[in-house]
Amino acid sequence: MKSLEAVKVEVAKLEDLPFQTGRVVKLNGREIAVFRLSSGEVRAVENRCPHKGGPLAEGIVSGNYVFCPMHDWKINLADGKVQAPDDGCVITYEVDVKEGKVYISM
Ligand code: FES
Repeated sequence: MKSLEAVKVEVAKLEDLPFQTGRVVKLNGREIAVFRLSSGEVRAVENRCPHKGGPLAEGIVSGNYVFCPMHDWKINLADGKVQAPDDGCVITYEVDVKEGKVYISM
């Protein structure tokens, strides 16, 4: 039986990702928001807020969270969960950084 393996795709150079700013990457017809946190970690989530589709890559990043630019929902970039009092979640993608290159697994 054939197993389904995640495909790793190089999406950026680490040095090209400014801290605490989102960048949009298009992969297989999906829009993914990639963020480099102040801690240096890189996170990737779908670029669509579960509320009304706001572009999360344009949100304000604080710690491990992004605030949607449309109505300020707060989303955890580690697990994709919307924080209370709002509710919902976004798809998160596994990120690897190797030798200064950023890869996303799909
Ligand atoms: S669309 Fe993101 S909070 Fe409304």
